[in-house]
Formats: sequence, C-alpha cells, structure tokens
Amino acid sequence: AGSLMAQKAKPGLTEANIRAAMNEAYDKFKNASGGANANYIPYLADVDPKLYGIVVCTADGKVFEVGDTKYEFGIESISKVFVLALAMQDNGQKAIEDSIGVNATGMPFNSVLAVELEPARAVNPLVNAGAMATNSFVKAPNKTAKWAKIDDIFAKFAGRRLPVIDKLYQSETATNQHNRAIAWLLYSYGRFYDDVDMSVDLYTKACSYGTNAKDLAVMAGTLANNGINPVTKEKVINPDFCPKILANMMTEGLYDSTGDWVYHTGLPGKSGVGGGIIAVVPGKLAIAVFAPPLDKAGNSVKGQLAVKYMVDKLGLNLL
Ligand code: DON
Repeated sequence: AGSLMAQKAKPGLTEANIRAAMNEAYDKFKNASGGANANYIPYLADVDPKLYGIVVCTADGKVFEVGDTKYEFGIESISKVFVLALAMQDNGQKAIEDSIGVNATGMPFNSVLAVELEPARAVNPLVNAGAMATNSFVKAPNKTAKWAKIDDIFAKFAGRRLPVIDKLYQSETATNQHNRAIAWLLYSYGRFYDDVDMSVDLYTKACSYGTNAKDLAVMAGTLANNGINPVTKEKVINPDFCPKILANMMTEGLYDSTGDWVYHTGLPGKSGVGGGIIAVVPGKLAIAVFAPPLDKAGNSVKGQLAVKYMVDKLGLNLL
C-alpha cells in the first residue's frame, strides 16, 4: 500500500520532456482567444495580436524555442525585475525592503491608492510607483552614467546589448502623465531618491527595450542560475540577491492577479504589457512566452496558459 505522503512522480527534466511540453503548450493555445493588446500606449495597440512564441532556458544553458521567438517587442514591466537587481546591488537587500517595500498591493500596477496606503515606503519594486522609485535608487553621478549602468546590466542578463525601440519610447513618453503624477506624489512623501523627471524618463526608456522571447528566457534563466548567465557564464549579480528578487516576483509579479498565478504555478513570474511573461524555476530553468493579448490585470493570456500547462506537465510547481 502506498504511503499517504506519497507524491506523484515528477517527469525528468530531460531535453525530450521539456521540448514535448513546450511544443504541446504552443499547439494547444496557438488559437486561444481572449484578452486584448494594451491600448493605453499607442505603439502596443498596433502589434500583431497573433504573434506567439515560447522559449525555455535551462540553468545549464540549453535553449529550446518554438513559434515567434525572434520578434522584438517591448519588455515593459519585465524591466522592473532587472532594474531592481541593479538597485539591490547598489544599495543592498535591506535598503530595498526599508525604502521601497516588499508587500503586495492587491491593486492595479499603476494604482495611486496603493501609494496612499503604504505611507512608510514606496510600495514595492514591481508596480509602477515602486519601480520608478527603484530606478531613482540606482546610484550614479548623472543621467548618462545611470543609463549606462542600466544598459550594461540588461546586456549582461540577456547576453547581448538590447536595443531601445525608439517608436515605443516616444509613444510611451507622450502618454506617461499618470506615471509622472505617481512619481511626484512619491516625491512629496520623501520616497523618491533622485531627480524625478530624470528617473521617470529612465524608467520609461527601460520599459521600451526591445527583447525577443529568447532574450527574456536567458534573462530569467540568469535568475534561475544564481545570478550567473547560463549561456555566457558571466556572473551578473550576487547570488544572495536572487531569492530576494524571486520573492518580489512571487509576491507581485502579476500584480493584482499574482495570487491566481501562484495558486496555479507556485512559481515566481513577471509580466509586461508588451505581451511578455517570464517564470523562474530556481536551479532548473526559466520559461518566457510572448503573446500580446492581455487580461484585465495586464498579463498575457496565452502566456499564462502556456506556463501553467508546462508547469503541470513537467511538475515544476515549487509548492
Ligand atoms: O509604465 C507603464 O505603464 C508601462 N511602461 C509598463 C506597465 C506594465 O508593463 C505593466 N504590466 N503588465
């Protein structure tokens, strides 16, 4: 008789099993309907909603891909994770906890109310308010030097220098009044750590990086591999910071629907309104999906479906 504690055996994370789960997830949801492109940033509204790609990057540097994995789209909020990594390197993990914050908001990613409700901190690094404050927390003597630091760490995470999509950057700059208002509100509470207009601009520029699904998988793979890029083997961040960054993702990676996400996947994830989504299985692998139509919280619909399918198929749930 089996023990009451017996667990279902997990399939091995062999190349064949990973490829099979990825290809099945691709086929299964290729024609899934539901969701819509982000429309509050004009550039994003015009991206082909049918684009769809999945990439897996293992912690030992193998990369598997299917679908539209070369198309460069706006990284958007997924950039928040990697600017957080930089700010944590500069200030230490305790300063992030004390000055930015690590609690879920349970509110939309651009909530003003969330700022009002957490008076002692700048909310958390993965919503717009806290992400702009986190950007302002990066240490550099001037704007050029700060952008160079951001650009360097993104290049190390991705294994290549990432382009900024200029049209997206312009589109977003012309329409970011709400973010500017949030940033000035934080400033009025003493929760901004550098020039406000400069920091909002650099936040907007980082959101406008063009990444393909493979870039995101390698960037997330670096978090799965203790801060070492699994493809280039370069050490990108202090390994002590990975669990802290992943904890933030587990808490707030999909905004007000993070609870639903964790309930199904048990994994730290992060989405962006460009249609990208990443999920990290520490020590094992990372998954990145690109599919533009979003749910109401701003998360890729197909991206969530594909990751959930692969998590079940491969037994990746950490919980
Ligand atoms: O600041 C914004 O609103 C966008 N640049 C990024 C928002 C975002 O990606 C939220 N994501 N799901």
